[in-house]
Amino acid sequence: MAPLKHLLGIEGLNPVAVTNLLDLAESYALLNRSGKTQRDLLRGRTLINLFFEDSTRTRTSFELAGRRLGADVVNMAVATSSVSKGETLLDTAATLNAMNCDLLVVRHNSSGAPALLAQKVGASVINAGDGTHEHPTQALLDALTIRRNKGRLSGLTIAICGDIAHSRVARSNILLLTMMNNFVRLVGPPTLMPGGIGVGGVEIFHDMAAGLQGADIVMMLRLQKERMSGGPVPSSREFFAFYGLDRAKLAHAKPDALIMHPGPMNRGVEIASEVADDPQRSRIKEQVEMGVAVRMAVLETCARSNY
Ligand code: NCD
Repeated sequence: MAPLKHLLGIEGLNPVAVTNLLDLAESYALLNRSGKTQRDLLRGRTLINLFFEDSTRTRTSFELAGRRLGADVVNMAVATSSVSKGETLLDTAATLNAMNCDLLVVRHNSSGAPALLAQKVGASVINAGDGTHEHPTQALLDALTIRRNKGRLSGLTIAICGDIAHSRVARSNILLLTMMNNFVRLVGPPTLMPGGIGVGGVEIFHDMAAGLQGADIVMMLRLQKERMSGGPVPSSREFFAFYGLDRAKLAHAKPDALIMHPGPMNRGVEIASEVADDPQRSRIKEQVEMGVAVRMAVLETCARSNY
């Protein structure tokens, strides 16, 4: 596929680029299951994980992905670095640049921080989640999980439910899934719906029964309290009663509808354990597995742009 210098968002990709990334990721998913590695591909390359926000899955899977391809991986713990002493983002970038880093994976609480870094460093910058803007590798791993389970990535009805307003996962998924010609529905209370921008081509529902009717995929999102102001949700209990996914609400979706969640889950808030842990319907663990494969594909594709 055409080299990709940075991966800052799904915005800017086209269906061919998405399909190529997913095909490559699929081959890595098979390789990972076989227990083999490809340690020559990124040998001698340096990957720095620069995380200004907490993360379990994303940071660990970028680390594993880099190591499985043979890269030298460094995790910068921001709290113990000069960043906590007030060094600016750009000073940090200049320092990392001087170390000849090839791949810089960035998570930041400000939307646009990875794009700013991409203008200033020689490395390929990969957005691992910026503010409420985008989380492109999450959307790619969700797409791969859907494609593997449904055999296609178009013409599906996908309900994205809960805290859409604060979710970069929702935003990247909306962009990717509409680009691939799916029917995307956003389901949640009016206070958790995003304002206008970036949500063209989707249907909005404020009622779970209506929004889940006939859905192939039910994607649940965490209530992102750390990003909320003004109390858009009365209480977690009330939220669960109206918008939490349990067996009764899931019954409105297609009988073979699959459940997804990017994690971390708030059990009993947006999702009940009875559905989150249902081996027939939940694909939450497979999403995590696909996260490593997708990140291997993204790292390889970005690294090739620097050859
Ligand atoms: C998401 C994130 O950080 O945006 N988590 C993740 O990457 N798996 C979603 C969330 O925090 O709720």
